[in-house]
Amino acid sequence: MMIVILFGYFLTGVCGDGVADVVLSCTLVEEGVGLGGMGGGTVFTRTPATLVLRDVAVAPDESLETLTPFVPPSIPDPDAILLEAKVSSPEIPNAHVLLHADCNEQEVMCEISRYSLHGSQESSEPAYFMVSLNVEEVEFSTALILQTLTVNKDQSTLIQKKLGLPLSQSGTLMTEVIFLVFSHIKSVTAPLRGDVLLNCGFKQQEIPLAQDVGIAWRLQHRGKGWKVLEMKTRLDDVEGSTVVHAGRRGSSVDAAQVVGEGNASVTLTKLKVVDEGTYICTVSVDLFHAQQVIHLNVIQPPHVSLSEERLILKSESPQTLSCHCTKYYPLDAQMEWLSLSPTDTEPTVLSDQGSLSSHRQHGDGTYSLSSHLTVHSSVSPGTKITCRVSHPALDAPLSVSLVVESPEPGSYWWVLGFLIITGLFFYQVMR
Ligand SMILES: *[C@@H]1O[C@H](CO)[C@@H](O)[C@H](O)[C@H]1NC(C)=O
Repeated sequence: MMIVILFGYFLTGVCGDGVADVVLSCTLVEEGVGLGGMGGGTVFTRTPATLVLRDVAVAPDESLETLTPFVPPSIPDPDAILLEAKVSSPEIPNAHVLLHADCNEQEVMCEISRYSLHGSQESSEPAYFMVSLNVEEVEFSTALILQTLTVNKDQSTLIQKKLGLPLSQSGTLMTEVIFLVFSHIKSVTAPLRGDVLLNCGFKQQEIPLAQDVGIAWRLQHRGKGWKVLEMKTRLDDVEGSTVVHAGRRGSSVDAAQVVGEGNASVTLTKLKVVDEGTYICTVSVDLFHAQQVIHLNVIQPPHVSLSEERLILKSESPQTLSCHCTKYYPLDAQMEWLSLSPTDTEPTVLSDQGSLSSHRQHGDGTYSLSSHLTVHSSVSPGTKITCRVSHPALDAPLSVSLVVESPEPGSYWWVLGFLIITGLFFYQVMR
């Protein structure tokens, strides 16, 4: 986790109103080989770095007076890692969130890593960086690929010590965003047997890097991975070139939306419990690919019922009343017994909460649970007994109840009389 310090913002007068600069403190993550020879594994080194996003669009009603200018260091420092990226084209969707993160005390996670293309040398130019930006509280999530701009080198050009790349006059590494993938909605909850849209979008520079676009959706759950859907298409020929391989029945990505709007969202229909998990959306253009991660939670509220419609007290023996909570997902359901005697105004939670059956899991992955309460003959007639169930899929707890009835002595005689008459009838018939 990184605490981000926004040094301030600088209005670029050149580009007119409605744009500002955002300064983010980030971490440069580098993969290296661990010390200790053969036994050493991969280690990651983390170095503080700064990212300046230039020309972030600001809403017209935004008050810009509070924004103080970002001043590049007066003496360029070849040790500092200061990346500057122009983000006007392509624009980062919802980038205004980054402007307000500081005021709203939200943490911006910013991680930068070198992005190497096949066969390219570490120090060759242009160089590429992958930046992953996340703001937890407001569902902001974007992965950017930055490409360094050419610097006209002369004797005075400084070289960044760690990266071996030439710096601009002001000591920054000049880059531009060439490709980005975003999702923003990182966690989705959808009902069992319902449909869901998992959001994922991408943008590339106005002059597209590539005509070929690949979309892949994968699901990861409990250490296993599945291919949900793969699509390959060409921006210039959607009809003729789109190839889709759906690993999950009832999954679709709209090829026209991919090409027209950079919308790679997947729709999953008739959700099952097994669809729950972590989805990874990967968009590839040219040699670049970037990902977003989205969690899907499936829910199904329980059906709650009592074993009896009526409960008539018997003077001698206690009776069992069961509460059945059926076909819910996920597992965490809570059952509670309450009673309200005729003389009370508020129900009380019973100290004897009965006995719980063990969870039963059904073929569709949902669960059922029952609770059995012993109702003693000492309970006063007119007492209302309630079974209350709480579950994440319910906005408010569900209750089912019945009122305990007093024994009806008359009814025994009626039953007895009925039996005698029936007996006599059969006696007559069989004779
Ligand atoms: C993709 O399209 C759907 C509607 O079809 C919309 O709800 C969603 O926000 C779009 N996502 C992106 C990234 O454009």
